[in-house]
Amino acid sequence: MKFFVDSAVVSEIREIAELGLADGVTTNPSLLAKSGRPYAEVLREICEIIDGPVSAEVVATEAPLMLEEGQKLAALHRNIVVKCPMTIEGLKATKALSSRGIRVNVTLIFSPLQALAAAKCGAAFLSPFVGRLDDIGHDGLLVIDQIVRIMENYDFPAEVLVASIRSPLHLLHAAEAGAHVATLPPNVIKQILQHPLTDAGLEKFLADWHQTKQKI
Ligand code: E4P
Repeated sequence: MKFFVDSAVVSEIREIAELGLADGVTTNPSLLAKSGRPYAEVLREICEIIDGPVSAEVVATEAPLMLEEGQKLAALHRNIVVKCPMTIEGLKATKALSSRGIRVNVTLIFSPLQALAAAKCGAAFLSPFVGRLDDIGHDGLLVIDQIVRIMENYDFPAEVLVASIRSPLHLLHAAEAGAHVATLPPNVIKQILQHPLTDAGLEKFLADWHQTKQKI
């Protein structure tokens, strides 16, 4: 399973890349706005750190303008994957961009049939949002199971990229379901690396060892 970092903060992306845990990055307009920096500068810096797909989202809502913005984003760096929203206009832009050899991540997917439609339009990545479904009392993880199964049934090349992950349990289930990619906020990446028994175990090992007064 690939891990993408769900962030537009260069320092936190670099930290996770140095650990060897960043196969890609996803940004969205809210994350780029939060970074408080010019979008093109941020995206280029991220692409220099990450040797993998870096998603950057269009903000137009009509297909011709989405196509224009998508081409502009893709021209920033070869690692850029253009994100288009799961709307009719977004699907038109997805088809147009992918037919020009530009990889597209269809975002804001909330149902298995939206995912199927996006895959048929040539999406390279499908981004279902688990956390936001859970927020409104739906079962986000069930949607992931359904999308993974549909992609397997028909052998679509699109990768299922689980987005809006809020906790390690979301990641665990996405991995069990066989999703290709999980995009993770840095705090969730840190959470999965820690366990209180690891800390307690290490403390005890070191205390026992220090009593021997030996050095390695
Ligand atoms: C990533 O591609 C998505 O934009 C992101 O995971 C959304 O996460 P949120 O629902 O926590 O904002």
